[in-house]
Amino acid sequence: MTDSVTIKKPFDSHVHFRQGAMLRAVTPLTAAKFSRAVVMPNTDPPIETVDQAAEYKKEILGAMPQGSHCEPLMTVYLTKNLTAVEIEKGAKSNVCKIYGVKSYPYGATTNSQWGYRSILEAKEVLKKMEEVGMPLLLHGEVHMNESGGEVDPYEGERLFIEDILPRLLDSYPKLKISLEHLSTAVAADFIEKHGAEGRLVATITPHHLLYAREEAESRPLLRCKPLIKSKAEREKVRLLVKKGLPFVFAGTDSAPHPESKKFSATPAFGVFSAPVAIELYTQIFDELGVLNLLENFLSINGPNFYGLPPSEETITLVKKDWQVTEPVVTDEGEKVWPIGHKEHGLGNETLRWRVR
Ligand code: NCD
Ligand code: ZN
Repeated sequence: MTDSVTIKKPFDSHVHFRQGAMLRAVTPLTAAKFSRAVVMPNTDPPIETVDQAAEYKKEILGAMPQGSHCEPLMTVYLTKNLTAVEIEKGAKSNVCKIYGVKSYPYGATTNSQWGYRSILEAKEVLKKMEEVGMPLLLHGEVHMNESGGEVDPYEGERLFIEDILPRLLDSYPKLKISLEHLSTAVAADFIEKHGAEGRLVATITPHHLLYAREEAESRPLLRCKPLIKSKAEREKVRLLVKKGLPFVFAGTDSAPHPESKKFSATPAFGVFSAPVAIELYTQIFDELGVLNLLENFLSINGPNFYGLPPSEETITLVKKDWQVTEPVVTDEGEKVWPIGHKEHGLGNETLRWRVR
């Protein structure tokens, strides 16, 4: 039985740090366990320019504990204000290189009101990204049909994979694309067939690997986009991970919201996982019998896609049961509850692995 595993320090290819007090509370948690993190730009207002990203990077670095070696990799939001000129500037910037452009379908998730209704309209920006080698990070869900009505949110990812993604791949043959937070069987099949290093990759969250629709629907901490899918879909996502493909890797999508927004009649979309994400990934890989694939998934494939070397530091995880009993509390007194919490998760949840 393996009860300890040492891997290069992980890379989080998808994290939300927010701003202000929330940012100050959550950034150190990612900094403690990850060597680098790709920072999502869906703040309010959104990050649309290199200068805004540079300011935001300063705020993040200011919240990292002394001596921490976690590098934030900045992105910009694909809004109507984002221009090809800005892409060019971001690709070259020494002060704040832009590592990707994030696309949110209008209306689909937290702060997605600045996204395009159809990403296919963003032609000039996408062309420039293809030219300069800047990755497109996709929230790959169709949220609205052609007449503006909402589609079934359980079908959004499938519709995106069947309709939009092939068109993007055809129109921009050299564009680097990451399908973020893959959650369905259709997406897993598509990535297995068409994924390729440096061209088409997918990231997977711990919560889409661990939980199922049946238990998530009634639990606010598990409410997120894409919605957590059925056990059958989860099985396909797990099988994809078990293949150990170099174009599939971790992106926690840790997306904190204050207690007031989670425990409400319409809980905000977003799962806060930063305090437990690596531990949960390790638990799942252990259950799947593929701990040998953990390092590639957490620490190698992600940096590879972004053209960076893996970390030279390591972390060690040990197999030891523990429970999450406390929330994170901001310096303004707001509570932020992580998934896996003893009371607010599934109930009496036990985590099997712990960072030493
Ligand atoms: C994210 C957030 O809260 O910013 N929420 C989520 O449910 N995943 C946005 C996103 O990545 O969709
Ligand atoms: Zn996200």
